[in-house]
Amino acid sequence: MRVVHNVAELRIAVKAMREKGFRIGFVPTMGFLHEGHASLIQQCKNRCDATVVSIFVNPTQFGPKEDLATYPSDLEADQSLCLKLGVNLLFLPATAEMYPSAFQTFIEPGAVAEPLCGKYRPGHFRGVATVVAKLFNMVQPDLAFFGQKDLQQTAVIKRMVRDLNLPVDIAVVPTLREYDGLAMSSRNIYLSTDERKRARCISLGLFAAEAAFMAGERDTASLLTRTNECLWGVDELQYCELVDAQNLDPLVGQVDRAAAICVAAYVGSTRLIDNIILSPNQA
Ligand code: PAJ
Repeated sequence: MRVVHNVAELRIAVKAMREKGFRIGFVPTMGFLHEGHASLIQQCKNRCDATVVSIFVNPTQFGPKEDLATYPSDLEADQSLCLKLGVNLLFLPATAEMYPSAFQTFIEPGAVAEPLCGKYRPGHFRGVATVVAKLFNMVQPDLAFFGQKDLQQTAVIKRMVRDLNLPVDIAVVPTLREYDGLAMSSRNIYLSTDERKRARCISLGLFAAEAAFMAGERDTASLLTRTNECLWGVDELQYCELVDAQNLDPLVGQVDRAAAICVAAYVGSTRLIDNIILSPNQA
């Protein structure tokens, strides 16, 4: 596994891969890798000839009161996991490499970035879209992998790729969960034992709605009630919404197309998000 720290080295390494005719896959991350990240990397290995992973804790997607300064990190463990998984190229840029002084150009996502997390994390998706566009320009992958866990992020990235004609395909990988259903997240490490137990209510609520949906329930209010009834364990619910899975517009009445129930909640001081897709054709 080749490890590079700057864009010049990255471009040389990627060029060599491309000259071999390799289909290049890319998995952008912020590190502190867990099995969810590993499943993205494995999918990338399966579908591409060369796998590029980046680890960069992107300051522009954190709000002033968010956890940028304390975001968990274990670069050694991340590197050995990447090595074990057969990553070909690991990109570990410093902040000054990604945002040189006087940096001032951003990608501004539109309506898809406004609801859900967009309401509670102003500027977050602007930072995500900007860093992902930069990384795409640096790596120039054929295919890039993102987790369904961050559903709105995938919607913002897909929209950006379409709107700006970026020459990359986007693959969305299902959410990997802990034994009790909690969606894996680098931030789960913040949870105390008691909070960890209570956090499971979020996935249980989503599974309850999914079970009702599979049994034929199509009424959006009833489905949301199934989820809300389970959310006893959270300390502050930011949102629990049923939306169109593609454009994230709220869905009212009957579920007549692919939909998602999306939840964001604080358990203690940790903000957790999760979602489940309800697809009328699969039920
Ligand atoms: P990060 O939170 O490190 O996540 C990197 C990728 O892993 C994202 O696509 C995310 O959706 C996916 N992922 C996280 N938890 C997952 C799980 N339990 N199952 C499956 N996939 C999971 O998301 C980011 O970083 C950043 O916003 C980034 C895209 C790197 C831009 O800075």
